[in-house]
Amino acid sequence: MTSRILTGITTTGTPHLGNYAGAIRPAIEASRAPGVESFYFLADYHALIKCDDAARIEQSRMAVAATWLAAGLDPNKVTFYRQSDIPEIPELTWLLTCVAGKGLLNRAHAYKGAVDKNQAEGEDADAGITMGLFSYPILMAADILMFNADQVPVGRDQLQHVEMARDIGQRFNHVFGKGRSYFNMPQALIDERVALLPGLDGRKMSKSYNNTIPLFARSKELRESIQLIVTDSRLPGERKDPDSSALFTLFKAFATPERARMYHEDLIAGLGWGEAKKQLFELVDNQLGGMRQQYHVLLTKPKVLEDILQYGAQKAREVAAPFLGELREAVGLKSFNHFAPKVEAVKKPASGLSVISFREQGAFHFRVLGADKQVLMTSIALADGKEMGAIVSKIKAGDMGDLRNDGNTLTLWHEGRAVAHSETFADRQGLNALLKRLADDLYTLREQGLSL
Ligand code: TRP
Repeated sequence: MTSRILTGITTTGTPHLGNYAGAIRPAIEASRAPGVESFYFLADYHALIKCDDAARIEQSRMAVAATWLAAGLDPNKVTFYRQSDIPEIPELTWLLTCVAGKGLLNRAHAYKGAVDKNQAEGEDADAGITMGLFSYPILMAADILMFNADQVPVGRDQLQHVEMARDIGQRFNHVFGKGRSYFNMPQALIDERVALLPGLDGRKMSKSYNNTIPLFARSKELRESIQLIVTDSRLPGERKDPDSSALFTLFKAFATPERARMYHEDLIAGLGWGEAKKQLFELVDNQLGGMRQQYHVLLTKPKVLEDILQYGAQKAREVAAPFLGELREAVGLKSFNHFAPKVEAVKKPASGLSVISFREQGAFHFRVLGADKQVLMTSIALADGKEMGAIVSKIKAGDMGDLRNDGNTLTLWHEGRAVAHSETFADRQGLNALLKRLADDLYTLREQGLSL
C-alpha cells in the first residue's frame, strides 16, 4: 500500500532556516522514499488569516514556491500546488464546518491565546479576532482530509490542529458514513530532532519572535545573522555546555552525526564562541550555496513557477473533485438526476468500446479506452474483484451505468461511490467533448444521467 504524506506552508513570509530544517528538508526526503505519494502545498488561504498585506502575500507565495523547488522538490513525483487553486478545499471546509463542534474550536491554542491576551489587557474577549482565526483548524482539516493523508509532517505547534482534523473527520464519518469511513485518520509526523530549531535569541525560530535566520540570505547576511546568535559569556578555552547552546542545536541540524559529535567535543574542550560561529556559518553556507543560486534564478521566472503550480493543481483536483462529489452525496447534496426514473440503456454493438482490467498490489483496477485506445476513464483501486467484474461486464455490454459530473471531472458511480473518473478538464467544454465521444464511440446515454 502506498502511504500519503501531506503538508503545507503558510505564505506570509520568506522561509527561514527553521522552516527548511524542520519542514521542507524532511518533507522532500520523505517524498523520495518508495511507496509514498506526497502532497505539498502553499497554504495561501491560511496566509489571509494572519496577514492583510496583499503585496506581502504575493511576494511570499513566489518565495515559498521557489524555495521548495530550489530545495529539490520534484514536481513530477510530488503533487505540488497552491491551496487557493483547489476550489474543492473551501467547499469541503464548509461541509466540515457544519459538523465541527464550536467547543472544540474554542480550545484551539491560537484562538485561546488571542482571547487570553485580550483578557489580560482588559479588552473584550473577542476583540480583533476574526472568524478566519477561529475557524483556522477547520480549513486545515479540509487540507488534510481532502486527500486522505496518512501522515502530516508539521512543527510541534501544529500537533493540535492535526488532532482536530482527526476529530472533525471522525465526526463526519460518524454522522454521514453509514458504515463507511470517508476519511482515514491522519497522523502528525514531528521530527523531534529539529522540531524546535532555536533562533537568534535561543527561543524557537519563528517569525513571530523576530529571531529568524533567512534561508537564502546572501553569504554576507548569513554570516552577520549567525554572529548575532546569543551565547553565554564563557571565554575561549573555557568548557562550554553544548547541549544548552543554540549554536550546537543549529549545527546538529545541518551536520552529519559524526561532524556534530566533533563539534560537541570541541565545545567541551573550550572552542571559542567566535570560532564556533564561524564553523556553523561555513557548514550552513556550504550546504545551502547551490540551492540559493537556484532560488534566485527561479524568482526571475514567474511563468515557470506558475506552470509548475498549475500542473500540480490539475493533479490535485483529479483526486479532490471526485472525492468531493462523494462527500456532497453523503450529506444529501445529490444531483436530482439521481432520482429520475431509470431508462434502460439502449445497447449498441460495442464497436469502439474496450475495457482493460488488471490487478496491482492486491487491488483491482480497470480502464475504459476509446476506439483509438486512449484512456477515457480510470478506476480507483477496488478491493472487491467481484464488484469490478460486475462493473466491467456491464460496460462491455455497452452500458456505462451511472455517470455524473463532479465539477469538470466525469465520474462513474456504483453503489454509492465514484469508482472511476476521467481526467479533470480545464473547462466544461472538455467534459462535453468526452461525453460526446462516449456517446459516439461506446454507448447510448441513458436519459437519467447527463445530457449533452
Ligand atoms: N497551519 C500550518 C502552519 O502554519 C500550515 C498548514 C496549513 C498545514 N494547512 C496544513 C500544515 C495542512 C499541514 C497540513 O504551519
